[in-house]
Amino acid sequence: MDKFIIEGGTPLKGTIAISGSKNAALPIMAGALLGDSETTITNIPRLQDIYTFNNVIRVVGARVDFDDQNNKMVIDPTHVSHLEAPYDLVRKMRASFYMLGALVGKHKYAKVSLPGGCAWGPRPVDLHLKGMEAMGIDVELDGGYVIAKADDTLPPASYELSPSSVGATVNLLLASVLRSEEFTLKNAAKEPDVVQLCEALVQMGADISGIGTDTLVVRKVDSLKGIQIHNDPDRIELGTFMIAGAMKPGNELELTGCDPEQLGNFPELLRETGASVSIEGDVITLKAPDVLKPVSITTDIYPGFPTDLQAQWATMLTQAEGSSSVTDTVYYDRFSYVPELSRLGAKMHVDKNTVHISGKTMLTGASVMSTDLRASVSLVMAAMVAEKTTEVLRIYHLDRGYESLEDKLNGVGAKIKRADDQ
Ligand code: UD1
Repeated sequence: MDKFIIEGGTPLKGTIAISGSKNAALPIMAGALLGDSETTITNIPRLQDIYTFNNVIRVVGARVDFDDQNNKMVIDPTHVSHLEAPYDLVRKMRASFYMLGALVGKHKYAKVSLPGGCAWGPRPVDLHLKGMEAMGIDVELDGGYVIAKADDTLPPASYELSPSSVGATVNLLLASVLRSEEFTLKNAAKEPDVVQLCEALVQMGADISGIGTDTLVVRKVDSLKGIQIHNDPDRIELGTFMIAGAMKPGNELELTGCDPEQLGNFPELLRETGASVSIEGDVITLKAPDVLKPVSITTDIYPGFPTDLQAQWATMLTQAEGSSSVTDTVYYDRFSYVPELSRLGAKMHVDKNTVHISGKTMLTGASVMSTDLRASVSLVMAAMVAEKTTEVLRIYHLDRGYESLEDKLNGVGAKIKRADDQ
């Protein structure tokens, strides 16, 4: 298992190119399985979760050619024959559950393992299953697997998600486009990842209206064709680097290949800390303030503050002058980074779904443990401003979701070394 050894205190100055989005890529990779011909996707990041999903897609019989040096993937779905996604693969990554919608949508049958636990508390899939049942799909649970069966054509139906869910919206879209006479999904997720999937499916020939709103209406089409599509940039990677840039006076980052439109009010919130954020086309320039102001946030569904950036924001707030808080309303139990940051000297405590932070604290290097993807990157960010050397153990979490993280950060002045954790 690899670890990072990080020497803190160096300023971050320079340019970082933003990679393609993992969370946007996975739904379109699943969507490619609905086509009758090859789909080519560019700007796919080289990430462990992408390689894992490739394996899931291959297991069912599709061909995947991933030219990872050029971030280009070709998926040929024409030989899918084994309509099952096994536990061994699905347990590695929750988004493998998208196979349920893709297989039952295209082949009218799917057997997919339930995803199981997750590093930050229960993450159920009840809405995915209830939505499919509402659509007229027969859903059964058997030995840890979901078995879904559909008729050629499903009668008009409607379902309201409560709460709104990205994963359930993706699965219900995949299941309905080739099957449902008319499926109305209310309180659908509006995240850019869902919008990109809708646009890809429409390009393939699907009939979806209400794209980008919280009510999606799908009307059955007989077939979908393969397409060529360029995957969106990763707004969470972008937000992570923007927050990392704001943490220490003297930092100045230029972030290229961004889609600023996907950031909601995030740049405005960052400006409230005193950071300078300027946006020109697909380039964002960020300068850290001399004194970082404490700005409390509460996560929400898109376009609210993303739960995937709350750990990074809370980490930044350890460097702000004053008290602040971060509340997560999407996931109530996503604070595993707090005890690890405390080891570096942060003053934080969790009360229900809120972490209270007292700043500014001087952080000092120590050994800390990664617990999940976004918690891990927060430890790297803290280590970069800490005095002395920090070891971040179990960084395989980072390899799941940040492409070339240490190369990108070292390129702007960080001192991060990867080593074998033995
Ligand atoms: C996706 C993202 C993840 C992000 C999350 C919220 C991917 C691969 N992952 O996860 O990075 O943190 O969106 O933006 O894109 N819920 C239920 N029942 C369900 C499904 C969800 O109660 O069947 C609840 C969840 O517990 C959570 C909320 O709905 O409280 C939102 O979860 P959801 O949007 O489904 O997250 P994911 O799609 O799993």
